[in-house]
Amino acid sequence: MAYLDIRVDQAILLFLLLLAVYFSTILAGRLIFSPLVKFPGPRLAATSFLYEFYYDFICRGRYEFKIEDLHDKYGPIIRINPDELHIRDPEFHSQIYVNSGVRKSSRPASHRNATPSRESTATTLDHDHHRQRRKALEPYFSKNMVTKLEPEIQRIVKRLHERLWQHKGSPTPINLFEVYGAVASDVVTAYCFGSSWGSLEKDNYDADTSHVHMFFTKLMPIFRLFPSLLTLSLAIPEWMIKDPGVVQMQRYRHRVEKQVADVRRATSLKKAGGAGKGITGHTTIFHELLERSTLPPSELADHRLTDEAITLVGAGLVTTAQTLAFVSFYLLNQPEALAKLQNALEPLMVSYPAKTPTWTQLEAVPYLNAVVLEGLRMHGVARRIARIFPDEDLKYKEWTIPAGTAIGMSASALHDYERIFPEPHFFIPDRWLEGDVHLKRKYWVPFGRGSRACIGISLAYVELYHVIAAVFRPNGLKMKLFETNESDVKYEHDFLFPSPKEDSKGIRVLIS
Ligand code: HEM
Ligand SMILES: *[C@@H]1O[C@H](CO)[C@@H](O)[C@H](O)[C@H]1NC(C)=O
Repeated sequence: MAYLDIRVDQAILLFLLLLAVYFSTILAGRLIFSPLVKFPGPRLAATSFLYEFYYDFICRGRYEFKIEDLHDKYGPIIRINPDELHIRDPEFHSQIYVNSGVRKSSRPASHRNATPSRESTATTLDHDHHRQRRKALEPYFSKNMVTKLEPEIQRIVKRLHERLWQHKGSPTPINLFEVYGAVASDVVTAYCFGSSWGSLEKDNYDADTSHVHMFFTKLMPIFRLFPSLLTLSLAIPEWMIKDPGVVQMQRYRHRVEKQVADVRRATSLKKAGGAGKGITGHTTIFHELLERSTLPPSELADHRLTDEAITLVGAGLVTTAQTLAFVSFYLLNQPEALAKLQNALEPLMVSYPAKTPTWTQLEAVPYLNAVVLEGLRMHGVARRIARIFPDEDLKYKEWTIPAGTAIGMSASALHDYERIFPEPHFFIPDRWLEGDVHLKRKYWVPFGRGSRACIGISLAYVELYHVIAAVFRPNGLKMKLFETNESDVKYEHDFLFPSPKEDSKGIRVLIS
């Protein structure tokens, strides 16, 4: 036994020694040998991902704000974690977020690790692989294609209009994020699968679906650090899980899986000469992908398409719903802005819903356009979304950013740039109607820029224009804020989506 004891001691000692060597090698790598040592920033951030984790998870989505402080202290370029640099310089944004023609852009692995859909276009790391996947999707997001689907969107927005009237006189406030979440969910699922989830028809507007995304994005810092925890939490059987959020996450994935399987069944029926098109008869992204795309079969496997679908629904839902909810808040909170908007909408919306204007007509209303631009400026995705340039060094002032380094810039660096947007924290649609608007547009990046910018811009626009016009048309609904003020929209936490204080009950309204 004594002999064995010694062996165990020695084994433990050896293990600890190896562990020490292992960690000091990593540390030395990060602090001495890394090509990033020359960049300014706190030692701790360069040493360990725990620094970022502390601000993002323990302090609840605060690293974006800490990065601001670090720039104030260390200058316009800093190292924010062992692998990533961050620049705060509005003039340099267009050098980072570039098109394929300029140079290849990959994404850091941390970006993919934190998501449940790792094989989607949005989460594809390698530039060329991303191009292949994105090219297959692009035709379905063109302005042309969105215009074809416009009647369906108009129908959904009319349904929203009817649903809101049902709340007339009710003393129970409604949560606009949930209501708009239902609209965005119905639009994006109709677009992807040919049959919408009918969230607008549910009494609670299918609020769980909107909230499951927010629940998930709050956990992203953990999954970024421990990617296998995510795999695990999606794999454990439902009855073993105590956390209702995780259960929702799993159900959500199963729902999308089933939808993809339905589309596959419908298209194989069609190929066999059976029933034909999708469930509602019109062709959609996933029908087209399965029937006509030139992607190799491995790219069309069930789990790949499920990942793609989850990302599309996720990317199309919270962003649009949040923008609409925030814009509604500002309009209701600033009666002069609302009055101007209603005035501008009068000619087009006078006989709504009997007569519905088109997107093209709405787009041409300058004040409506200004409201949309300003809402997106204040509440588009603010956080940095880093790029990696695999083949080329990048010059920034006297610095050389070595090829292969993750480098990003937060959109807030541009959207809060006082030289271009004076009083950046105020909702001022008029700024889009005066001065050098072309210049302002250069600093307006709510959809990102370059080869990996948002693919759903046209779809987002159609929704934003139609919903705002229908909800705020003159002589329409009388909506008033219920126990909601600035503190329910002020950007306090970065949970992927810019979020207000955590105990906010949301943007709530009464309808009279
Ligand atoms: C107001 C609404 C929206 C906003 C503010 C928004 C914003 C963004 C941003 C900032 C990105 C990241 C770009 C980057 O990496 O630099 C993005 C990517 C993406 N968005 Fe949107 N988005 C919106 C609506 C939509 C809609 C309706 C869809 C359609 C389903 C969509 C689908 C996507 C996809 C697929 C990507 C990944 C693109 C890629 O990696 O190639 N988004 N979006
Ligand atoms: C918003 O309302 C809350 C209570 O509902 C109040 O404590 C807070 O001071 C208000 N904030 C602003 C900015 O008016």
